[in-house]
Amino acid sequence: MLQLARNLGRLGDENAFTVLARAQALAAQGRDIVNLGIGQPDFPTPPHIVEAAIKALRDGHHGYTPAMGIPPLREAVSADIHRRLGVEVDPDTVAIMPGGKVTMFLAVLMFAEEGREIIFPDPGFPIYKSLIQYSAAKPVPLPIREENGFAFSADELLSRITPNTSLIILNTPANPTGGVTPPQEIEKLVAGLERWPNVAILADEIYGQITFDGLRHASLLQYPQIRDRVILLDGWSKTYAMTGWRMGYGVWPKAIVDHVRKLATNCHSCVNASAQWAGIAALQGPQDCVAQMTVAFDERRTFIAGALNAIPGMRCVLPKGAFYAFPNVSGTGWNERALAKALLEEAGVAVIAGSDFGDEGQGFIRLSSANSMENIARAVDRIGDFLASRKPAGAEAIG
Ligand SMILES: Cc1ncc(COP(=O)(O)O)c(C=O)c1O
Repeated sequence: MLQLARNLGRLGDENAFTVLARAQALAAQGRDIVNLGIGQPDFPTPPHIVEAAIKALRDGHHGYTPAMGIPPLREAVSADIHRRLGVEVDPDTVAIMPGGKVTMFLAVLMFAEEGREIIFPDPGFPIYKSLIQYSAAKPVPLPIREENGFAFSADELLSRITPNTSLIILNTPANPTGGVTPPQEIEKLVAGLERWPNVAILADEIYGQITFDGLRHASLLQYPQIRDRVILLDGWSKTYAMTGWRMGYGVWPKAIVDHVRKLATNCHSCVNASAQWAGIAALQGPQDCVAQMTVAFDERRTFIAGALNAIPGMRCVLPKGAFYAFPNVSGTGWNERALAKALLEEAGVAVIAGSDFGDEGQGFIRLSSANSMENIARAVDRIGDFLASRKPAGAEAIG
């Protein structure tokens, strides 16, 4: 019997990948599947970014790079943050990682151990809770409420902090809800955090450039009072349609950034060199691709929320950012897990059950609007027809 580490049993998963595999398997059998499951832009990476990677390979960038990333990329990240958020960032505190997720992994590794508590959004990106459980720290869920437009509440968050809290994970604009927490709420949180100077904050702002209705994304990096304990997580995946390139970054407090370098050296050595050059082209090249994608996501979220609200039993908050809709399906009589399964298997629409994002996601499903308007319209029609003709049987119904 192999003596595997016990903590492996506590590692969670991301069901979006399982649904993607099932949707692809059904499609390979000839089924017509509309995939609103996976959270990646349906656009290709803009051509000038692809060309920059090809050029880097032709120019001979084939070797290792520094563990924290090539200096011109770290400088480009710093300049980009200054342009967007008006904040000075020392390029030495920028750590280029193979995807946004890795900053999350390292932050939890650095602040978690038995006896510590980590607060995370529920519903939220499933990897937060998975990593906390794996680390043996105590996961403390922060409910993200529909009646609050899926913004987090500063008061609720502050009430969950104890002397054992080592890290708070925040995500706005949010996956899976599309919620955006307004600047006033963030200011309230920052004021409250002054009472807890030993608590670090991981601000997952990977959807920071995808907001609607002229809403300003308030970054946790913009508050000098907490700057020495904020870790910013961002990257190229969502903003520049680069999920497969595995390019992300963290901005770390100066006092702890050397631990990041060491962890990166121990783990992956560095990020793919040509992808890093592509990352520079993304940040320094024309930004109209970002605006164009956001306009498309905006049109789709308005359509999707309107169409879902017209289906009896469904109720959908209009998303304010990211590219997800998170309708409440409890009025349909279906439990969300059975509904997600039946929609895929019987109606040919891939969606994710809200409970895959935490206990507070019960009664909801997540639809990604990263698909063409035509496909979204087909998917919503199918969902409406399905619910009109098929009632939940036995365990499929709300228990
Ligand atoms: C909230 C959130 N954070 C981080 C990530 C990870 O991004 P990446 O693909 O760059 O690792 C995702 C991806 O879906 C996400 O939704």
